[in-house]
Amino acid sequence: MSNNPIGIFDSGVGGTSIWKEIHHLLPNENTIYLADSANAPYGPKGSEKIKELSIKNTELLLKKGCKIIVVACNTATTNAIDYLRETYNVPFIGIEPAIKPAALQTKTNAVGILATKGTLSSELFSKTSGKFASNIKVIEREGKGIVELIESGKLYSDAMKAILLEYLQPMLKANIDHLVLGCTHYPYLIPILLELLPNHVTIIDSGAAVARQTKTVLEKNSLLNLSAETINLKFYTNGSIDVMYSLLGKGFDVKHLNF
Ligand code: DGL
Repeated sequence: MSNNPIGIFDSGVGGTSIWKEIHHLLPNENTIYLADSANAPYGPKGSEKIKELSIKNTELLLKKGCKIIVVACNTATTNAIDYLRETYNVPFIGIEPAIKPAALQTKTNAVGILATKGTLSSELFSKTSGKFASNIKVIEREGKGIVELIESGKLYSDAMKAILLEYLQPMLKANIDHLVLGCTHYPYLIPILLELLPNHVTIIDSGAAVARQTKTVLEKNSLLNLSAETINLKFYTNGSIDVMYSLLGKGFDVKHLNF
């Protein structure tokens, strides 16, 4: 069982930002990544639909023998992880916007958060936000259009810059000193955000923390891969292979699969 793969899924290519952190920390692990790009974006879909898609992705990964599932999508985590944990007999790792560290570190008492509608409107997010950020100003913006541009290979485009400027303006006006990236597609925006943000704004993303949590849970369940066999890193997408390559780099085993 311990050399079975780690299963990772996202609404599309964004969760590869999490896969990179996991592979960096756990280079001896087999992995299977599912990009449900044909159904991206999940953000504007209702909670029931997001749950249904998360179930479909989970069942495919379980069929492929995954020993643990990383829900590399804030929107799927905040809407479906409780159900997944109750229903399937493997450990699940989720990802939530890192509002807690931002709230603890802010000196201006104002933080910005960029996430999808599905995440911002979820019960889990309002609970976390209420618990850790009730006495600071949280400027939330729904990142409408961002996932679509990334999924269509237009990460570095004038359209992306224009959208980001629009979402950042009210945050900068409110004097934020931290910007929380609440979607796994957004770490790919960091080079653009660094150009647009003043130096005193710290960008927070949860990728490295998710990788550490994955390692801890594997250890606790005696599931770390200790075998010396060559590992397999598999990527399946029901969308564009080229967009996957543009984010991962060539040389990976990326296949098209209808699911
Ligand atoms: N990567 C997903 C997330 O973390 C994007 C959601 C979407 O498809 O709208 O929320």
